[in-house]
Amino acid sequence: MPHFSHMSHSQRVTLRESVTIHTTSPEETERLGERIGRALEPGTVVALMGELGAGKTTLTKGIARGLEVADLVHSPTFNLIHEHKGRLPVYHFDLYRLTTPEEIEDLGYQDYFYGEGVTIVEWPEKILDLLPPDHLEIRIFGTDDNRTFEILAAGPKSMGLLHELSEAPDA
Ligand SMILES: Nc1ncnc2c1ncn2[C@@H]1O[C@H](COP(=O)(O)OP(=O)(O)OP(=O)(O)O)[C@@H](O)[C@H]1O
Ligand SMILES: [Mg+2]
Repeated sequence: MPHFSHMSHSQRVTLRESVTIHTTSPEETERLGERIGRALEPGTVVALMGELGAGKTTLTKGIARGLEVADLVHSPTFNLIHEHKGRLPVYHFDLYRLTTPEEIEDLGYQDYFYGEGVTIVEWPEKILDLLPPDHLEIRIFGTDDNRTFEILAAGPKSMGLLHELSEAPDA
């Protein structure tokens, strides 16, 4: 059962609220993703931060399932982006191999980030300046089978999503 705790970082200049959730298996992480996916709305950008093997793709699989994506979600090895069709279009970016921000500008990233679909970004650290100001940031930490997901809202729209997630933990 995911465990919730709430924090208000009111000491910061902009209000950023966060929800922290722990999982103890990949399956539990996928279920967490599924719940997030069910709550997502058109135009949401989800930035997944964490080391190699943290669980970004595992969480993405769950998010895709929550968005009713039928096809397989895996790590986009050579492509920077994979598109899926679900309840909403899903754009899965893996920027691990991105060398310069220009590469993503060439892909026309704005059409995805500011479109009607849901964008999930692995390795968003590479393009922090290009992320829309209002996005959901998920920071993943942990060792062995334990993972901690710190979900932060960076704007009013993602704040609404965060509240929805924390109010219906097992819906
Ligand atoms: N609680 C957990 N949640 C998610 N993954 C877990 C958990 N416990 C163990 N794992 C394992 O950790 C690995 C996570 O791999 P995953 O591909 O999701 O990471 P990633 O962050 O996408 O890595 P990369 O940076 O290479 O893209 C998997 O092998 C998975 O089985
Ligand atoms: Mg990955």
